[in-house]
Amino acid sequence: MILSDQLIIDNGDFVVEHLDDSSENRHLVDSFVSGNNAQGLELYLKNFALDDEISNESRTYLVKDSLSKALACYFSLRTCLVPIALTKSLFTTVAAIELANFAVNENYRKKQRAIKKIGAYVFLVFILPIVKHIAKLVGARWLCIYALPDEKLIRYYESLGFTRLSKEQEEFVYSHVKPKYDKSCIFMYQPITLK
Ligand SMILES: CC(C)(COP(=O)(O)OP(=O)(O)OC[C@H]1O[C@@H](n2cnc3c(N)ncnc32)[C@H](O)[C@@H]1OP(=O)(O)O)[C@@H](O)C(=O)NCCC(=O)NCCS
Repeated sequence: MILSDQLIIDNGDFVVEHLDDSSENRHLVDSFVSGNNAQGLELYLKNFALDDEISNESRTYLVKDSLSKALACYFSLRTCLVPIALTKSLFTTVAAIELANFAVNENYRKKQRAIKKIGAYVFLVFILPIVKHIAKLVGARWLCIYALPDEKLIRYYESLGFTRLSKEQEEFVYSHVKPKYDKSCIFMYQPITLK
């Protein structure tokens, strides 16, 4: 078994690299513009992602156009534990991976017409395989996301295979682990299947 500590994935359309792989990558984030009024995702990439990367709080991946090397999309992954209530006084936890940030660069989308749903493409072609690879090495049963509270976005995540917990379980998660920056966001998850 060979484990590379420099993850580089290139499928001819996009190349995926860590934010801190090069000084070029660290500067590339300046070109990122978030769409759908989700400025928090742009702020995170430009102001906080590198610190989190260096402290191992989460890993941020830049998805770059294979030819032009323009920044097309980014996502961040980190581990998490999801608490699940069993009875009024008992709970268990599910080991999981959190898709902590996920956004398309609208600057890039405007210039590139070939792939319409760049985010969905990146999710299926890069994020899921990376998540499955991690889950082969470290136990993790769910892939989770805290979705911005918008019906359209929730439906979009459902189309990518995410579902919501019951109202009671959702409240239980929020009362135990909901991160401050994801205030009002909606917890969603999908099982990680290795086969
Ligand atoms: C989420 C995202 C990566 C998906 O990219 P994509 O696969 O290329 O798909 P689209 O950009 O067309 O978005 C899919 C749908 O979700 C909606 N959507 C995306 N982000 C949204 C947001 N922040 N708020 C409300 N709706 C949103 C889009 O309007 C679109 O709806 P439609 O299919 O009815 O037109 C991209 O829309 C994005 O960067 N959004 C802004 C950042 C963000 O909200 N990230 C998610 C944080 S939980």
